[in-house]
Amino acid sequence: MRHLLSTQDLSKDDAILLLDTAAQMAATQSREIKKLPTLRGRTVVNLFFEDSTRTRISFETAAKRLSADVINFSAKGSSVSKGESLKDTALTLHAMGADAVVVRHWASGAPHQLAHAGWLDAAVLNAGDGTHQHPTQALLDAFTIRRHLVGLRGGAGGAGHPDGTGADLAGLRVAIVGDVLHSRVARSNVHLLHTLGAEVTLVSPPTLLPVGVETWPCRTSYDLDATLAGWQPDAVMMLRVQRERMSGGAGAFFPSPLEYTRRYGLDGRRLALLPGHAIVMHPGPMNRGLEISAEAADSARSVIVEQVANGVAVRMAALYLLLAGERDDRADAPPAPAATEGTAL
Ligand code: NCD
Repeated sequence: MRHLLSTQDLSKDDAILLLDTAAQMAATQSREIKKLPTLRGRTVVNLFFEDSTRTRISFETAAKRLSADVINFSAKGSSVSKGESLKDTALTLHAMGADAVVVRHWASGAPHQLAHAGWLDAAVLNAGDGTHQHPTQALLDAFTIRRHLVGLRGGAGGAGHPDGTGADLAGLRVAIVGDVLHSRVARSNVHLLHTLGAEVTLVSPPTLLPVGVETWPCRTSYDLDATLAGWQPDAVMMLRVQRERMSGGAGAFFPSPLEYTRRYGLDGRRLALLPGHAIVMHPGPMNRGLEISAEAADSARSVIVEQVANGVAVRMAALYLLLAGERDDRADAPPAPAATEGTAL
């Protein structure tokens, strides 16, 4: 595989290789000098058609820590606002010699088109497309879960390594709560967590569950209290209510913000229903007071800030595996390191 487009494309071995490589990258990030020479001379373009804070900064930081040259492109202020097509933008990036294109787009499928239309020969990394996929978010979530929880249920084969290297997430329970309908984070996580052996329950009002969810590899529930108290998840991942994607306004999906919070918001009372080791996650940006209270977001169980830090290591791993692996294919390159042999990435 030359691209990272969807968690559905990742085998279990691919996913574990990505997480293990991210663990190695994370170890380098506690050094005083954080920069590695690995991608020197390579060009990474951040192509963002949708607003983003942490994902764009995270990819930029990751590419720079690997010594790549980084070009930031956002649709606002570019020729896209003059009507330029995705194809012409891609041809421009090709002409400028981009080795990797990190793309966030409001249209589901845009990264797939960039990767396969033949407009450029760069590696494409999906940084979120419409309501479809956000694979690096799911990978950083899995990385965070593994660091905190592996070995707890006894099923995960962590081989005793403190950061879980080599381990899958077998036996762990993850509740994903909220606006599943509009969430590429939920879709990416359901598939990756399933591939890694975790059990997933989606908790959402019926209006915010997508048609066809019964074919996804997870359970569903409309009852947050019952899921937390009865199922005892090891991790609770709260989703943002995505008002900008609700064409009829939020009122078309739930009667009032207060009612949503009462039924689906995570607060101190609900935290107390969880097992003692359970962690609280949110991909950001948070609507404090709507899907999560300040008490829950800032509690000792919250790993929300750590998710952001782990994002850099995971994106360094993805860029390294896609770009350094490709470089090793060249005739004049040294042989591939053992860690990347046999991977689809
Ligand atoms: C998510 C996204 O953009 O899909 N945020 C992120 O990447 N950190 C989730 C969201 O916007 O709610």
